[in-house]
Amino acid sequence: MSYSEKVMDHFSNPRNMGEIAKPSGVGTVGNAQCGDIMRVYLDINGDGIVEDVKFKTFGCAAAVATSSMATELVKGKSVQDALKVTNQAVCEALDGLPPVKVHCSLLAEEAIHAALWDYAEKNGIVIEGLSKPKSDIHEDEAEEEY
Ligand code: FES
Repeated sequence: MSYSEKVMDHFSNPRNMGEIAKPSGVGTVGNAQCGDIMRVYLDINGDGIVEDVKFKTFGCAAAVATSSMATELVKGKSVQDALKVTNQAVCEALDGLPPVKVHCSLLAEEAIHAALWDYAEKNGIVIEGLSKPKSDIHEDEAEEEY
């Protein structure tokens, strides 16, 4: 199994790793296949633009690289456009992932969706095309996992 140079770069040098103190939305998801966890923090301004995004992951190299790329892709986008950043788009931007690692890229997409859902709920808005995340882990449960 080999990783593309872009995957290696984003794994060795992840962009947007960390957290946001007062996020507009947070999403934490787990991957049932491997037990890895990812949390995404979004800072969304009054115009609905993702001003900042950070992630933390307890996951493999592919999970780190895909989160790094996914956060780069959603930064500066509107909420609607952020929703269109799919795991396929992230994989393409990374020049592909080995087939056994494609499931890892789902974590980033799901965590972003969960954070957008949290933002929408907090603000009483509906984001068209966004459905309730399946596997959002609640704050206290997630704390226990760490
Ligand atoms: Fe768990 Fe990659 S093996 S996210």
